[in-house]
Amino acid sequence: MTARRRRTAVSSKAWAGRFVEPTAPIVERFTTSLPVDRALYPYDVAGSVAHVRGLVRAKLLTRREGTRLVRGLGRVLRELDAGAFRFRKKDEDIHMAIERRLTELVGPLGGKLHTGRSRNDQVATDLRLWLRAECAATDTALAGLQRALRRVATRHATALLPGYTHLQRAQPVLLAHHLLAYHEMLARDRGRFRDGQARADELPLGAGALAGAGFAIDRAYVARLLGFRRPTANSLDAVGDRDAAAEFLAAAAITAVHLSRLAEELVLWSSEEFGFVELPDAFATGSSMMPQKKNPDVAELVRGRTGRVVGALVALLTTLKGLPLAYNRDLQEDKAILFDAAATLRSALDVLAAMLPALRFSTGRMARAADGLLLATDVADLLVERQGIPFRQAHEIVGALVRHCLATGTGLRDVDAGELRRISPRLTPDLVRQLTPARSVARRTVVGGTAPVTVRRALARAARQDVR
Ligand code: ARG
Repeated sequence: MTARRRRTAVSSKAWAGRFVEPTAPIVERFTTSLPVDRALYPYDVAGSVAHVRGLVRAKLLTRREGTRLVRGLGRVLRELDAGAFRFRKKDEDIHMAIERRLTELVGPLGGKLHTGRSRNDQVATDLRLWLRAECAATDTALAGLQRALRRVATRHATALLPGYTHLQRAQPVLLAHHLLAYHEMLARDRGRFRDGQARADELPLGAGALAGAGFAIDRAYVARLLGFRRPTANSLDAVGDRDAAAEFLAAAAITAVHLSRLAEELVLWSSEEFGFVELPDAFATGSSMMPQKKNPDVAELVRGRTGRVVGALVALLTTLKGLPLAYNRDLQEDKAILFDAAATLRSALDVLAAMLPALRFSTGRMARAADGLLLATDVADLLVERQGIPFRQAHEIVGALVRHCLATGTGLRDVDAGELRRISPRLTPDLVRQLTPARSVARRTVVGGTAPVTVRRALARAARQDVR
């Protein structure tokens, strides 16, 4: 083969200069990231536009050249937006595809775009821009679910629910209080995404392949153009680090776990055994065999897909753990992991936000389930309050009362005066007669308690916080 022919055989690659043989097709198929990273295109174009302006400022491009490149990039962006962009088999990834098309449009000038840049700092930059947008979208979705929780809580401001520990009926609570527990979790989730974003607010571009760009590019200027607080401080770290992605996935995994717990409760509550909630037809599915079935598939899939999101965190951390500095091709795998987890999480948030307000709560059945022996703690509290009995002793007296109720099938309120006296002289009919789930919750006016006044205040506070 002559030198000329060798060149043409591999010249479609940007890095072909030092190669003699073309890449094996099987390797091209194995290494391509285009099917995944094409989602980065708006950020890749934005990053390139800022880079061009940095090059102009550093006098590495003339103004005219800069303008032509920015215009060309605008055209590429429009083609991509319109779905008119023609990808080529030889496009390894979105970065090469965009640069290839730009060069078709503006000619050899396109070859100047990559001055002082590597795909390593380029892709790290794209990813941070993508993460910033995704965090904003996730925050909106989280706020949407919080709003749905508040709506349902407001609509059922006084509905009672048995609160559980160990999945055993424990004490009455307000349904609104229960729903607001999830609101709290989601508020912390939003905080976690925000915290991660604050740490990720640095521009990797300018780090070059690993050692820093070989030209005096004003990185702080480029950072400002792209809305970053400052450039990254260490070029090796800038291209080898994926903390921003890991933190996103950690926040996503915790959020997914919260959604899974909520979903699990919806599965339980919609069962005939609980019967607290009826799923709207639009959010349930039937059985292909059993005509009576109405299945909570939406909640089950929210619960089930948590595995994917938690798995994504583990997958990324495992990918990172053995990598020597700085860039390694392993890092390309971050995107498939990240994009899938982000989409999965967002769809779960959206579907729950749509479904919650459509649920029909059987408040009568819930209130009945919140009555009975769940009020035993209140008897003990009343003994402490009215008779000054130490709580431990009160607990023991009520324990004996509960034993009697269970043995005789009598309700707490229905034990007759003689029987009460026999269990303890401190137990009086007026003390047990006044027990109700509503009174039980009303006592709990402590900060964070389930009393209606407290929950109303919590709801108002939640509404104020949500708009942030
Ligand atoms: N597609 C690559 C990625 O996503 C771009 C960086 C390629 N850099 C390299 N040195 N091969 O990571």
